[in-house]
Amino acid sequence: MLTLSDFPQLPQYHNMASISHIHLLLFLLSLSALYLESLSLSSEGEREYQKWLSWNVENHRAKAIFEAKAVATGKKVVDEKLRKAELHKVRIRVSPDGGGDFRTIQEAIDCIPLNNTRRVILQIQPGIYREKIVIPRSLPFVTFLGDSNDTPTITGNDTASSVSQKDGMPLKTFQSATVAVNANYFVAINIKFENTAPHDIGSVGEQAVALRISGNKAAFYNCSFYGTQDTLYDHKGLHYFNNCFIQGSVDFIFGYGRSLYENCYLNSIAKKVASLTAQKRNNASLSSGFSFKNSVITGSGQVYLGRAWGDQSRVVFSYTFMDKVVLPQGWSNWGDQKRQQSVYYGEYKCSGPGANQERRVPWARMLTDEEAEPFTGTHYVDGNSWLLNPLNL
Ligand SMILES: *[C@@H]1O[C@H](CO)[C@@H](O)[C@H](O)[C@H]1NC(C)=O
Ligand SMILES: *[C@@H]1O[C@H](CO)[C@@H](O)[C@H](O)[C@H]1NC(C)=O
Ligand SMILES: *[C@@H]1O[C@H](CO)[C@@H](O)[C@H](O)[C@H]1NC(C)=O
Ligand SMILES: *[C@@H]1O[C@H](CO)[C@@H](O)[C@H](O)[C@H]1NC(C)=O
Repeated sequence: MLTLSDFPQLPQYHNMASISHIHLLLFLLSLSALYLESLSLSSEGEREYQKWLSWNVENHRAKAIFEAKAVATGKKVVDEKLRKAELHKVRIRVSPDGGGDFRTIQEAIDCIPLNNTRRVILQIQPGIYREKIVIPRSLPFVTFLGDSNDTPTITGNDTASSVSQKDGMPLKTFQSATVAVNANYFVAINIKFENTAPHDIGSVGEQAVALRISGNKAAFYNCSFYGTQDTLYDHKGLHYFNNCFIQGSVDFIFGYGRSLYENCYLNSIAKKVASLTAQKRNNASLSSGFSFKNSVITGSGQVYLGRAWGDQSRVVFSYTFMDKVVLPQGWSNWGDQKRQQSVYYGEYKCSGPGANQERRVPWARMLTDEEAEPFTGTHYVDGNSWLLNPLNL
């Protein structure tokens, strides 16, 4: 860059005026340098990104104002179906020793009438449940409630390459889940979801999901998810995770949900290099994205915070402690350079050795306060209309 000392021979009597000219010149030069820089960096992708960024900030503000008004005038918008379902709760006890209404969780689910309109709380007694559970779309409002002092475990070991007992075909990742929830308004409290399939390094056929959540408006409190490759399939919908423990190696949180993970503990058991998230935002799932707040990342191996499964993959970490297990580069384009321009990988007020920005990929975004705001509260998942106090059962 030019500095004032590069113009030493200015006539004395022109000094004042010249200096301000020089200032102006320097200012213009730096403006055009900035402009050129942004042009070369930018292109279509960057402009789209900037457009989206300001839209996102504006949209968040407008929503916040709308909600504040609704609360002030007593017109808080609560999900009406949910409100009604909570008025008349049903409780069912599940106990493997026969002391409850059912011995297995699936039997209890099977007794719920289709298109159920009431909250059904399965009080799951301590124990190991070796079950493969599917909650169909027609069974909304199901709660799995475990005991915080002796958490029940639901365990399985299917992988993508396991053979289906129905048709002899491979299950694929989607059907490998120990617990699969297709229904809306699912809640789990104090439950351990597990897939124990043996695993070497991430490879074809070894995907083994512990939980797949495909229903909308699902909340998980004090739960744990144990697996290796593809532990938690955060498939689609609005989801909230609070005080959860999630363990895996390759892509262990993946899908295109719009989810907030708060106070969670993410534990890598990668042997070499792997990725913590594989978020699949693309043209068909534009509102999706994972936001992690107040969480901890630790464990073994080396992990990217995320790798771009979808071409517009979106993941944000805020106020999160990152141990040295996080690779200095932070993020991976999954071998597709084009994605660097369209993904949205943000970090905000994180700490720890893995949060060091010095060697981050240049396309990682260090968010400003206003850019971070839309991601750092339950408003990110429209929580005001459907998140209930989990202690109020
Ligand atoms: C449940 O709802 C679905 C979709 O609205 C409908 O097709 C189905 O017939 C209903 N089933 C029962 C048993 O009411
Ligand atoms: C998977 O679980 C089943 C049922 O518990 C068990 O029989 C089988 O041996 C397990 N397979 C492996 C590879 O651990
Ligand atoms: C996704 O949308 C962008 C912008 O609207 C467009 O340029 C791109 O071609 C789309 N990609 C696909 C795969 O449809
Ligand atoms: C979850 O666990 C914490 C302690 O870690 C406890 O304070 C909280 O009440 C629990 N939440 C629920 C919904 O049981």
